[in-house]
Amino acid sequence: MNSRPKPGLPAEEDLAATVLFLRQWLRDPRSIAAIAPSGRELARRIASAVGRNARRVIEIGAGTGVVTQALLSAGVPEAGLLVVERNAELHRMLTRRFPGVEVLEGDALDLAQVVANSGRLTAGRVDAVVSGLGLVNLGREAQRRLLGQVFELLRVRGRFVQFTYAPVLPVSREVMSDLGLTARRTAFSLLNLPPASVYVLTRRRAGRRT
Ligand SMILES: C[S@@+](CC[C@H](N)C(=O)[O-])C[C@H]1O[C@@H](n2cnc3c(N)ncnc32)[C@H](O)[C@@H]1O
Repeated sequence: MNSRPKPGLPAEEDLAATVLFLRQWLRDPRSIAAIAPSGRELARRIASAVGRNARRVIEIGAGTGVVTQALLSAGVPEAGLLVVERNAELHRMLTRRFPGVEVLEGDALDLAQVVANSGRLTAGRVDAVVSGLGLVNLGREAQRRLLGQVFELLRVRGRFVQFTYAPVLPVSREVMSDLGLTARRTAFSLLNLPPASVYVLTRRRAGRRT
């Protein structure tokens, strides 16, 4: 069943989610990579970047689920969404918030294995992978490892959607070139705090290395 969730949490739950997120950031700022969850306007722009026909989507680094919610509201079916979050407390919160969605506690850098162990989306490729990870903090080799797996999971012309607070694409040029990727900035959300850009990466050819 895909009962469309309401576009946001009630105010008190929203505040509790933001406080939980802030606590995780205080514990591990590098991994959480943002002091607060994305705003709803940015989340909507991220969700619209997956494309209207996306039915099989993986979200990595979901935090409190702002983007998860926007993906569901944009029409991605609950049964077609797989969410991966590494932080145990955020994972617990996501499982409570989205009982109809498969939410796994796992490391996106082991994405192929995490997806293989999941109950859904194991057969066939996916339309989009949406990332909330702080790619700038990851470094080049981890970016290569992540994106190599992502583009093995994506169908031909499938999209990798990434938001960033950085003024430029947060993926190393070498990784883009080695994997045969191309990027376009699809949105800039000035209203978000801090303002953020949304990038869509696609593969233009088989890369030299994966
Ligand atoms: C910048 S927050 C974004 C959260 C949410 N997508 C949003 O827009 O509000 C990054 C999230 O990625 C998670 N994360 C960081 N590294 C991860 C990894 N290797 N695998 C899975 N999740 C990760 C963090 O725990 C955090 O929830």
